[in-house]
Amino acid sequence: MSKSRRPLVAGNWKMNGLKKSQAEVNKLIKKLTKQHLKCDLLLCPPATLLTRFKNAAKGSRLRLGGQDCHGQEKGAHTGDISAQMLADAGATFVIVGHSERRADHQETDRIVRAKAGAASAAGLKVIVCVGETAGERRQKKTLRVIGRQLTKSIPDKSSSSSTVIAYEPVWAIGSGKTPTTKQVAEVHAFIRRKLVQRFGDEGEGMRILYGGSVNPVNASELLAIANVDGALVGGASLKASNFWGIAASY
Ligand code: 13P
Repeated sequence: MSKSRRPLVAGNWKMNGLKKSQAEVNKLIKKLTKQHLKCDLLLCPPATLLTRFKNAAKGSRLRLGGQDCHGQEKGAHTGDISAQMLADAGATFVIVGHSERRADHQETDRIVRAKAGAASAAGLKVIVCVGETAGERRQKKTLRVIGRQLTKSIPDKSSSSSTVIAYEPVWAIGSGKTPTTKQVAEVHAFIRRKLVQRFGDEGEGMRILYGGSVNPVNASELLAIANVDGALVGGASLKASNFWGIAASY
């Protein structure tokens, strides 16, 4: 990992979390006051909890983010949430293009790119997710798929301060399976090359997270791989002790 890239450990709570979940956030905030982490710590709870958690985290180093936003600034889109609304509720980051959104809501690269653009326009940092399915890996299409997602999902104006990439193999999400360190290294090196080709020094400075079944036991091995600048954590981010265990492995 380059010296200029400060690692980021991000938790994606997905469709989990109620008011009472604040107990876990309080534990994280308490730990942050006592121990200095060598990475940034970000939590992306459901949007309904952002303001509550933001108030609890006031003055702490815990960052908050949304899990998705609409590609347009505002308008007649019932049930959707805009980037500006997330920022207003306390988010400084937003995840876009998660494979669950791509699969459940038929989000294309073009839609993801619009979301990333809307997020940047609202002043949010954006985490753009990419990753292959099990079938694509079997058919040896991994790098081709990821190359396409990177080209088409990331807006041209992206920079190292605005944009983070998350590599999440779809088959590793929630499955307890992780790629080998060699597989992770290959994909992250490929992503780095693509980012540098397109964005130059800014591409060198963009953080590339690994996501998919990261836990406190496998974190140190995964986070030590070249070009892995942090983790995007699902299930293991729901409990403060597990999430902290991952972040503290730096
Ligand atoms: P798990 O850590 O539960 O595998 O989920 C990963 C993920 O999808 C994070 O966005």
